[in-house]
Parts: sequence; C-alpha cells; structure tokens
Amino acid sequence: MKVDIIGGGPGGLYFAILAKKAWPAMHITVYERNRADDTFGFGVVFSDETLETFEKYDPESYRAITANFAYWDDIEIHFKGTVHRIGGNGFCGCARVTLLKLLHERARQLGVELKFQTEIDPAALRDADLVVAADGINSRIRAQHADVFRPETDLRPNKFAWMGSTRPFDAFTFFFRETEHGIFIAHCYQYEPGQSTWVMETDPETFARAGLDKLDEQQSAKFLEGVFAKELAGHKLTVNRSLWRNFPTIRCESWTHDSIVLIGDAKATAHFSIGSGTKLAMEDAIALFNAFKATVGAAGKFTQPAHTKEYVKRALAHYETERRLEVEKTQHSADVSLVWFEQVRRFWDMDPRRFAFGLMTRSKAITYDNLALRAPEFVSELDKLVADDVRQQGFDVDTVKPAVPMFQPLRLRGMTLANRVVVSPMDQYSAVDGMPTDWHLVHLGSRATGGAGLIFTEMVCVSADARITLGCTGLYTDAQEAAYKRIADFVHANSAAKFCLQLGHAGRKGASRLMWEGMDQPLQEGGWPVISASPIPYYPNSQVPREMTRADMDKVIADFVQAAERGARAGFDMIEMHAAHGYLLASFISPLTNRRADEYGGSLENRLRFPLEVFHALRNVWPDEKPMAVRISATEREEGGLTGDDAVQVARAFAEAGVDLIDVSTGQTTPDAEPIYGRMFQTPFSDQIRNDAGIATMCVGAITSADQVNTIIAAGRADLVALARPHLVDPFFTMKAAAWYRATDIHCPPQYLPGRDQIFRNSVRDRADLTELRRKAKPKGHAAAGWKQAAE
Ligand SMILES: Cc1cc2nc3c(=O)[nH]c(=O)nc-3n(C[C@H](O)[C@H](O)[C@H](O)COP(=O)(O)OP(=O)(O)OC[C@H]3O[C@@H](n4cnc5c(N)ncnc54)[C@H](O)[C@@H]3O)c2cc1C
Ligand SMILES: Cc1cc2nc3c(=O)[nH]c(=O)nc-3n(C[C@H](O)[C@H](O)[C@H](O)COP(=O)(O)O)c2cc1C
Repeated sequence: MKVDIIGGGPGGLYFAILAKKAWPAMHITVYERNRADDTFGFGVVFSDETLETFEKYDPESYRAITANFAYWDDIEIHFKGTVHRIGGNGFCGCARVTLLKLLHERARQLGVELKFQTEIDPAALRDADLVVAADGINSRIRAQHADVFRPETDLRPNKFAWMGSTRPFDAFTFFFRETEHGIFIAHCYQYEPGQSTWVMETDPETFARAGLDKLDEQQSAKFLEGVFAKELAGHKLTVNRSLWRNFPTIRCESWTHDSIVLIGDAKATAHFSIGSGTKLAMEDAIALFNAFKATVGAAGKFTQPAHTKEYVKRALAHYETERRLEVEKTQHSADVSLVWFEQVRRFWDMDPRRFAFGLMTRSKAITYDNLALRAPEFVSELDKLVADDVRQQGFDVDTVKPAVPMFQPLRLRGMTLANRVVVSPMDQYSAVDGMPTDWHLVHLGSRATGGAGLIFTEMVCVSADARITLGCTGLYTDAQEAAYKRIADFVHANSAAKFCLQLGHAGRKGASRLMWEGMDQPLQEGGWPVISASPIPYYPNSQVPREMTRADMDKVIADFVQAAERGARAGFDMIEMHAAHGYLLASFISPLTNRRADEYGGSLENRLRFPLEVFHALRNVWPDEKPMAVRISATEREEGGLTGDDAVQVARAFAEAGVDLIDVSTGQTTPDAEPIYGRMFQTPFSDQIRNDAGIATMCVGAITSADQVNTIIAAGRADLVALARPHLVDPFFTMKAAAWYRATDIHCPPQYLPGRDQIFRNSVRDRADLTELRRKAKPKGHAAAGWKQAAE
C-alpha cells in the first residue's frame, strides 16, 4: 500500500511513524515544502494526559519527547498586582523545531521516506492508495476540494501574535496588563532552558488605538516590551514570522474524499488558549491509525492487497465517525475559552480571586470540585469571597468556615432563598380544564421538600385561550386559584422553598398538542384561534395567528393582571413573566417573529414596548416586597435573530422597569434555530447579562451536577442556577448535594430526617472514596499540587 503524506508537521509525521511501525511493508512518503530545520513558532505544549497517550502508542518517540521537554505543574495568573499559582495541571513543553527533529529521526529509523523542499500541487496529487492531507491551517488540498470538504472559517475578532523570549518560567503563566490603549494579555510558557513562548493577544479596538496595524514585527515586539516591561524582567522579545493574526476557527463538514483524508489543522483548528494545535494534530494521527487498525482487524495486516481501496474507504469512514465528536467537543471548549479572553473586560473589575477562578474554569474542563481537590486553599478562599459578599448583603453567614457557594442565601426584595438551586418551570401537561390536579400537588410538593431554594410552577396561562395545550394549567378561575393555593400552602407548610408563579400566554404556539403527542404541533381538533405579534405561523402546518390589535393587547394585559392578583392571594412568593421560547411576549421581542409596522414593531425599543406594558401592569399589582423575574430567550441562534448583545439591552430595559431577576434561557422562538448544546450551554448568556448589565440572573440548561452549580456561582456567572430535567428524576438533588458538601443547615421535613441523617453519614465515606479514585485516575504529575497567592 502506497501512502503519501502532504505536510511534515507533527500530524503528518506522527501518522507516518505509527503506520510504518505497525505495517512495515507500507510505502510511506512525507512531502514537506520547507527544509528539515525550518520552523515557525516557538514552543509546543502537551498535558500529562497527552503524554500518557503518546507513551501507549510509541514509547520510543515518547521517551525522546519527554527527555527533551521542560515540565511544569502550575498555572500562574498575574492580575492587578496579584499572583495566583494553582498546581496540579501537569504540562510539558519543547521547541517546535526539537519536536519535529525527534519525529523526523523516529520516522527515518522506521523507514519512512521524508522529502523536504517538495511542494505538492494538490491538482496533481500522485497516484497513492491513501493521501493524508496534513498540510496545515491554510491547506491547499482542503481548498482544492472545498466542494466536498465544505470548510467554514470563523475569523475571531481578537488579534494575536506568537513571540518568544529568554525569560525563564516555572509555570504556565498568564499576564494581564491594562494600558492607555486597552488590555493586553500574554500567554507564556517555557519550552527549553532559557526559551519561552509568548502568545500576545489584544482586542481589535486596543490594537487600532495602539497603532499596531502600522508597526512591523520588530516594532510590535518593541511596543510589547514596553507593555510587559515588568514581566519580561529585562529580557527581550524575539520574533519569528510573528505577524498579528485573527484566529480562524476552521470546521469541515467532511474530512474525507475518495482516498484523501484531512488531519490536524487542515481539518479543524482549536484556539491556542486550550492547549496546542500540535496535540490535536497528533491525536488525529492516532485516530486515523486506530481506524486502519480496526479495519485491518485481528489479522493485523492487509491480507488482500487487491482490496486496498475498500480498506481505505472503510478506514476513512471509521476515522471520521470515531473522531468527529471528540474534535467537536474540543472545538466547543476552545470556543468558550477564546470568548473568555475576548471578553476579558467583562471580568476586569472582579476580585482577583474570582478573576483567577473564572479563568481556570472558563472552558468547563476544570470545575469547583476539581480545583478543590488540587488546590483546596484556593477554593476555600473563593468560598470566603462568596460568603463575604453575602454578608455584605446583610446575612449573618459564617465567613470563616463558610458553606459552599450553592448553599449561600440570596435575597430578592423581601424574599430570602436558603440556597441557589432552583427547580426550573416545567409544564406537566396534566391539567384538566386549566385546573392543576393532584399530579401538580405531588410533583411540586416533592420538589419543594427536596431542598431547592426556589421552585417554579409550570407556565401558568392567563386565560383559556392563552394555553399552549389542553393539558396546561391556568389562573383565570376561582377554582384554579384555590387549587394553586392548596399547593402553595403545602409548599410553605412542609419546606423552606419559596414558590414562584410563572405567568405566560402561548401566543402562536397555542392550541398545540401535549408534549408526548407532538411538541408544538397544532391540535387536529378542539383548537382555538391564536394571536401573535405578526401573522406568522410557527410551523408551516401551524395555525396562522391573528396579528394583535390594541384591544387584544388591553385584554391580554388585563388577563395577566388578574392572574397576578390571584397569584398574590394564592400565596406565591414571586412571579415570573414568561417572555421567552416564542410564546406571545417573546414573539414581540424577536425581530424574526415581529414584522409589525406600528410602534410595537421595528426597533428593539418598539418591540419591547408591549412586553414592558405587561410588566409594568404586573409590577403595579404585585406586592412591593415580592420580587419579579422575566424569562427571556437571550439568543435565537438564528440569522437575523436576537443576540447576546441584544439580550443585554432587553435585560436593561426590564431592570429599569423594576425587574429583580432575569431568567436567562435561549432559543425555541422559531423552529429553525440551530442551538449548540453542551454542558451549561446557556450559561455564557447569563454571564454576559449579569456582568455587562449588572443585573441578577438565573441560568439554566444542561446543568446537571452540584459541582457545576458551585462553579457557576463562585465564578459570578449567575446568582441562581435552575435545573429542569435533572429534577424530573431527582427531587432530592439539593438534599443530596447538602450531604455531599456538609451543608447541615438544609431544611428537611421531620418525616424524612432519618433518610437525611443516613446520607449525611454515608456521604463522608463516599466522598473520601471518590477523592481517592480521582487522585488515582489523575495522569502522573511531576510536582505537588496546591495554590499560592502572592503580591506581584
Ligand atoms: C505562526 C504560527 C505559529 C505557531 N506557533 C505555535 C507554537 O509555538 N506552539 C504551538 O503549539 N503551536 C503553534 N502553532 C499552531 C501549530 O503549529 C499547529 O496547530 C500544529 O502544528 C498543527 O499541526 P499540523 O501537523 O496539522 O500542521 P502544521 O504543523 O501546520 O504542518 C503543516 C505542514 O505542511 C506543510 N505544507 C503545507 N502545504 C504543503 C504542500 N502543498 N506541500 C508540501 N508541504 C506543505 C507546511 O510547510 C507545514 O510544515 C502556530 C501556528 C501558527 C500559524
Ligand atoms: C418537560 C418540560 C417542560 C417544560 N416546561 C416549561 C415551562 O412551562 N416554562 C418554561 O419557561 N420552561 C419550560 N421548560 C424549560 C425548562 O425550564 C428549562 O429551561 C430547560 O429544560 C433546560 O433546562 P435543563 O437542561 O435543566 O432541562 C420545560 C422543560 C421540560 C423538560
């Protein structure tokens, strides 16, 4: 079998090594346009985990790599005169040129043919059985077959340049500096004695103000030597094709075409702030190698040369199926990470401890629990910081041995919540004629006794024709009011939870089927006329809603008001106005669903006019001492729809109108939205609203563990954390977390005390076991973990 590898970067070379070692009869040639010792960039980094993988696949190159690498275990964050040093990270680095030389040597030793100074024209690819396109970020092969690979490039706004210096480091170090032009960031690490990489980063406005667009490499380096004079400690910056660039996040819809396969940067890129592209390229090489191994099967060799084409086809399909998810996950983490650096101004006024924690936990891989294991003093500092803030709000909480962040209280107007966990609103589709039933009593009652600080009703509809489905509850009759009062009384008598009534109007999503009979699909019979901002149906087969008239608006406002009055009488502690998920009020806010020509359409100010009228009317009748929330879809994840920046404006408008909390959800306003799901996927929007607009927020969406709740609260990404689906199967989520974190103050109904005592006892042992397991599972490190804070 003849294999041509285009590009002698780490990806191409590593695949050549693995394949030649496993199948010596393969003819493998690596074509590289540069000379053997040409290289751009400075050092590359690998984590302990990656090194362990390399050891498994090729112990020889692993040994050569580890013998030549500089190790460090710590991350150091220099911010506003403070230094936070956090251990247990486990990295190593070496010069890119050294790595390439080691790989050249190993490849040659195995019999791989290396052809340097040979540029391959993709239009004239040789007749090989397999072509590995490892030709880097500007891949010509990808461009040649763009119609098949369908690449997409997201050019990020920040400017960055790779530079070097002789300043030694014993930690991966972040420097943050504010200048008269704006903020500069340096991501630094040592890769060999006396040699370090400095990736410089700044936002486009600062870049322009500093006039960096007019400076060449040397002049840029000189300028940055001024910015980081203290940090460079007398060392100079060196350049090597250190041009300012915008990071391109590249994704390809397909990675294979006939016998051609893309690997490394050619196939996908991930921002440098989560580790090196080198690691990803080498892991791609491993995945491709594994795909061939799996295809060749137990025989371990290509038994039927006549069928080479078939082997290649199957192996490439296998590679793409097996590797794609992992790459997309890495790219997603990298995207979240790069956004943190793009938005660093948002966190600039935070306490340095919270700033450091936010930086450490930005891409979700590192969390509160994980840091508590590696750097317990750092996490206990964070706990104190959160407790101090709470104390400043007038709570008499312990700040010496504080409760973990999720078990800190919160006050909204006259309502005090015992902790930060919320049962998110969840429609049960189980009402009869808008009446809540015993199902609702048991469902809400058991979630209240489970320990969450705040529980929400489902969207309770303000009139019969405001319902989404025939199974939705309402609050427009005396009987409904009495039924909800019964539930509220139960919650208050048997738990410490506060109870929030979510009020809404379905708008164009009304007259739909029950969730389990076809979500948002129109009722086939028994429907009723629906209204919306504009006459646009939800689905093509949905009812065309009637565009609301002024009279309709007055009627809807009156319905909301009477439902709120009923809510107050029923004893709810809080109300939330539902202006998300494409229901009536959301249909006004979204430019995709509001095409009105009057003062309720057009600009965001106009589109907000009716929702604000409803809000003001509610605030008027809702008791002053009780808080109000508004739920919004902070982004529509669709071209032309609302963005996070718009959501900040929306939140500000409601804050001016007196809202106490923004419940930050996203999407569901149109069926065409393309959400990117993942752990805590909506939390960045809560972070943006809370920290840009200074408004209390609740986040929600794929948050499933107490660890995540603590991470979010400690980092200041939200004030409350709501969980929906996890609570469907576990009403006692909060009680269990209390046992885990020893939050002994949690309220428990006396009937359940023996159960509570037991999990509190058992969790001590379970926690010790898990800690031990995690310690054992951690890749081998090279230094002791810990945390140190110092003045710069
Ligand atoms: C300017 C710059 C500096 C960087 N510095 C660092 C750093 O210091 N540390 C770090 O970890 N990461 C760095 N990176 C990122 C890192 O280089 C990549 O993520 C990683 O090397 C990807 O490996 P790869 O094998 O996919 O591609 P590459 O390493 O980019 O290798 C591709 C190779 O293909 C060759 N090639 C391309 N087209 C042809 C052709 N038609 N014919 C023959 N040969 C061809 C190129 O010359 C190149 O050697 C840097 C990136 C850039 C753009
Ligand atoms: C069965 C079900 C019903 C829901 N009903 C409502 C509702 O009535 N009102 C609302 O605002 N959100 C509703 N949601 C959305 C949730 O409140 C929450 O935003 C969403 O499920 C994401 O959180 P999760 O990942 O924790 O489940 C519902 C979700 C589920 C799963």
